[in-house]
Amino acid sequence: MPEASSQPASGTTAAEPRVLSGIQPTADSFHLGNYLGALRQWVAMQDTHEAFYCVVDLHAITIEHDPALLRRRTKVAAAQLFAMGLDPDRAHVFVQSHVPEHAELAWILGCLTGFGEAGRMTQFKDKSSKQGTSGTSVGLFTYPILQAADILLYTPDPASGRPLRVPVGEDQRQHLELTRTLAGRFNHRFGETFTLPDAHIPEGAAKITDLQEPGAKMSKSASSPQGIIDVLEEPGPMRKKIMRAVTDTGSEVVYDEEKKAGVTNLLRIFSALEGTSVPDLEARYQGSGYGQFKKDLAQVVLDTFTPIRERTLKLLDDEEHLDRLLAQGAERASEVAVRTMETVRERVGFVVRGR
Ligand code: AMP
Ligand code: TRP
Repeated sequence: MPEASSQPASGTTAAEPRVLSGIQPTADSFHLGNYLGALRQWVAMQDTHEAFYCVVDLHAITIEHDPALLRRRTKVAAAQLFAMGLDPDRAHVFVQSHVPEHAELAWILGCLTGFGEAGRMTQFKDKSSKQGTSGTSVGLFTYPILQAADILLYTPDPASGRPLRVPVGEDQRQHLELTRTLAGRFNHRFGETFTLPDAHIPEGAAKITDLQEPGAKMSKSASSPQGIIDVLEEPGPMRKKIMRAVTDTGSEVVYDEEKKAGVTNLLRIFSALEGTSVPDLEARYQGSGYGQFKKDLAQVVLDTFTPIRERTLKLLDDEEHLDRLLAQGAERASEVAVRTMETVRERVGFVVRGR
């Protein structure tokens, strides 16, 4: 049965699957790992899904932050999402804090989460071990529960059979598992309310590694500037970084995760961006050495990111317009979130506020 009160976005039908994802505004630019591991899927999925994408500013304050910088980065993040091809008429792009139901559902889900269960999240363990107990906030501990709320607020009616998909990189798999567990637990205790979400993790590009340390994930917090390629980077430095990427002994462009982690990472990036298979690339560069391969890869990266950079800067030039786009996204997101919360409050046993 389709949702009785659902108003699908223009061009979508009630039977269409939904997609929800989020990204933190914690850097001055997204990087190549974000793009290939997650954001490119966001853009592709708007064609086949009713899409909700949020810039998760509530998550961004789980570590110490500067208010002015957060505000700026939230806008830059949103501008990049539109610049990458998200179409405001098809995808509902919004800022998480504009829809307060995210925090409300997180509280309720937190009351269904075991302390030990939350403590087993590997991303929390990694981040908190770097910061020590006194530098680690309770918010960082409950971060995955807020993420579960982000996702489950946009649940289709479970009776409709519409899937709920979540495009993320490999590192988010455990958070998605927790989300499924919490959804199942809620349904079991209070009646079928949530559709269990499916992680949508791209093969191949799911883990892009650091250009200088090919054994480690490309990451805004861990990588050195030389190891990371920013979407908004100037062409000159971008080219240099690729030319200086760590390759391995030998000179053959071949895929070998164990022995040639550096070249393998570059092959993955090349293949994902150009849409050419790895064997075809190996054949193309047979005998030509690393130099030509890297030069061509640099061009492919530039061809992808230059138009995105230019569109981002243009969007940031007209903040009022950007704010309007985000308000429009928040409005549609709110319609769904408010309805979900009405059901949740009723199921949990909260008294309806009288008039
Ligand atoms: P983060 O920048 O860690 O908040 O990640 C934002 C999104 O990008 C998440 O869906 C991650 O899984 C994805 N992501 C981050 N780093 C990488 C990477 N090196 N390779 C692939 N995906 C990544
Ligand atoms: N934790 C995710 C990351 O680091 C960001 C995120 C927050 C998210 N809420 C989400 C991803 C909901 C998918 C769905 O990338």
